[in-house]
Amino acid sequence: MGELMGGDKKYKSKKCRKSSGKDAKRSRGDDACEVTKDRVRAHFLDGNTGPWAKNLAAEDVKNTRAAAQATTQSVEDSSAQRAEAAASAAHERAASGTPTRRGPDYSVPSSIDLVADPVLHALSTRRSISKVDPETPNDSDLLELIRSVSSVADHKGLRPWRFLIIRGDDRHRLGEALDEAAGVSRKPGEVNEKPLRAELLLALVASAQKHDKVPEWEQHATAAGAGHLLELALWQAGWGVMWRSGTLTNSEPVRRLHRLKENELLMGWFYIGAVPERYRQRLTTSTRPLPAPEQFLDTL
Ligand SMILES: Cc1cc2nc3c(=O)[nH]c(=O)nc-3n(C[C@H](O)[C@H](O)[C@H](O)COP(=O)(O)O)c2cc1C
Repeated sequence: MGELMGGDKKYKSKKCRKSSGKDAKRSRGDDACEVTKDRVRAHFLDGNTGPWAKNLAAEDVKNTRAAAQATTQSVEDSSAQRAEAAASAAHERAASGTPTRRGPDYSVPSSIDLVADPVLHALSTRRSISKVDPETPNDSDLLELIRSVSSVADHKGLRPWRFLIIRGDDRHRLGEALDEAAGVSRKPGEVNEKPLRAELLLALVASAQKHDKVPEWEQHATAAGAGHLLELALWQAGWGVMWRSGTLTNSEPVRRLHRLKENELLMGWFYIGAVPERYRQRLTTSTRPLPAPEQFLDTL
């Protein structure tokens, strides 16, 4: 884990150069950015999103190889164009030694398109997966996910949140703490099955500190934001997750198990695992209607 922390140059990715309409000079890097964005959009338009996102990286490699062999051929159909785009992006990656940056061009506000835009698409299609399969992200995957989540809006940068990894027997310890809080005693060999619903749980701790300018509720809002971003990041990376809590979440035995300080609050647990095949099949054909947005928007 240590080597992923700090100073890891490979993550300092090169940005797409911002350009204005007057800017006639375009570098090879700018073109690579454009084709990469087009390729990513094309993937999402093809429906390769959400739980399938993790296949994109493997597909990129495949396309890159195919494109290298196909450079002399005409590229009239769209799949060949995507392969060329991938090859060009890969060339750029190889030349710069950094991964090509994916994402929008911030030089102009983009059109708002919930299908074509990968972030908006992920936001609008995300859903909780209540029963997950045993495969889980490993600890270095988790570090990458947390790296992405750490952009959460945070007044004064107090970083008032952290996650605790709960795997294996630690889930039994959580079951025992919940039983103790509920006053439940079980027969020998019987266990509280609730924490066993996934192989991996992440407990979210809101860790608010006294601050003149940042009230406690703002810090809790940041911690909750980290939780929501984590759900989205997991979804986009192809993992299933469900955020769970309950009336016993901040009971004394449960707080003791998580070694919470007095100022800290447990915000629940993220039950994480692979998206079961039966869900994946349903997800390809069903889209859950979103609530009408008007109810969330008003004026003073
Ligand atoms: C803080 C928090 C705690 C939650 N706790 C539970 C819970 O204990 N049990 C449950 O069924 N859903 C719980 N939920 C709701 C689910 O995580 C999920 O959002 C809900 O089932 C709706 O599904 P969706 O996320 O696909 O819209 C909680 C959500 C939040 C934000």
